[in-house]
Amino acid sequence: MTDPDIHKGLAGVVVDTTTISSVNPQTNSLLYRGYPVQELAAHCSFEEVAYLLWHGELPTADELVAFEALERSLRTLDDRTRRAIDDVPVTAHPMDALRTAVSQLGGLDTTLQQPDGILDPALNDGRAVYLLAQLPSIVAYIQRRGRGLEPVEPRDDLDFSRNFLWMTFGELPDDVVVDAFRVSLVLYAEHSFNASTFTARVIASTLSDVYSAVTGAIGALKGPLHGGANEAVMHAFAEIGSADNAETWLDTALAEKRKIMGFGHRVYKNGDSRVPTMRSALERLVEHYDRADMLALYDALENAMAARKNIKPNLDYPSGPAYSLMGFDTETFTPLFAAARITGWTAHIFEQYAANSLIRPLSQYTGPEERHLER
Ligand code: CMC
Repeated sequence: MTDPDIHKGLAGVVVDTTTISSVNPQTNSLLYRGYPVQELAAHCSFEEVAYLLWHGELPTADELVAFEALERSLRTLDDRTRRAIDDVPVTAHPMDALRTAVSQLGGLDTTLQQPDGILDPALNDGRAVYLLAQLPSIVAYIQRRGRGLEPVEPRDDLDFSRNFLWMTFGELPDDVVVDAFRVSLVLYAEHSFNASTFTARVIASTLSDVYSAVTGAIGALKGPLHGGANEAVMHAFAEIGSADNAETWLDTALAEKRKIMGFGHRVYKNGDSRVPTMRSALERLVEHYDRADMLALYDALENAMAARKNIKPNLDYPSGPAYSLMGFDTETFTPLFAAARITGWTAHIFEQYAANSLIRPLSQYTGPEERHLER
């Protein structure tokens, strides 16, 4: 019998307060600093949302101009970072290369060695913008390297979303694609104490540095029960092939006790608040690329899952096919999630620093009774 004091997976446990976001399964809502994420996705750039998460308020027009200029000035990759990525075998998962690159950025930041260099809020504000600016360059470099293509330099005349797509593909897609990409970034930016954010907070709680905390968060995000689900959705779609196979495929997968990726959520049990917004973006992409077959498969699996298990999709379900239509390699989907969630991760790391208590839970020992060596 489970001990009543044990909370496997910390399910239902409230471990701290936060002012960054609130997930409300009862009202099916997600608020960033009080604003519904749907409103932010409809009306704000990703840069504005990043600023909001870090500073608690949306930027004024002047603050936004200064913030955008700073982000645009920090996009170029250091040759040493390129070399660190190149040292990771091209066959490795892009999340492994991303994790290595971020870890290496920490090694290159000599200000960490200054007195109070790890915790200084001004230095950390700068590091957060630096990571925000660098992650798209790293992710784009990794995808192009995987395709055997030369890297594309960033452009400071482009906003965050456009520049990200430019560096990845070497051309600018139509506005409908840029907008769907921006929406995905806004929706992925923050989600309270999810596994990767909590990992980042655990690392920050030891007063380790922001790069270490983000490196650990990337490791947590990689897993298929968390961020890795968005690419796993496309592996499932590839197995299913077309809408008319969805029910048979699902019955077999459930009989084999497989988890259906992109469905279910630890907090939302009646549907993920972010899904309708991302599904609308997916619909616009489907129309743009004339891929009604993709939406038919999407709907067929969703309906079959509802009928068999009454489990609803999470954000990774619409974002997987959306990123696929945009032309990203499947293994780059989770790095895209990381490039958005860097905003939430760093906001939480700084919140942890500001009112820190070492995160160190207890466990109930169930091993052998005390015993002694017979020597
Ligand atoms: N496919 C099949 N069965 C499922 C699924 C699923 N995706 N999700 C939950 N269930 C079943 C589960 O088997 C269990 O059934 P039973 O009570 O008969 O054993 C019941 O529903 C409760 O599930 P649980 O695993 O105890 O719930 P949880 O809160 O621990 O898990 C979850 C949440 C996200 C880990 C799980 O739903 C899952 O593995 N989903 C697939 C992976 C996925 O899509 N992850 C992305 C999560 S959200 C966005 C993100 O972070 O990236």
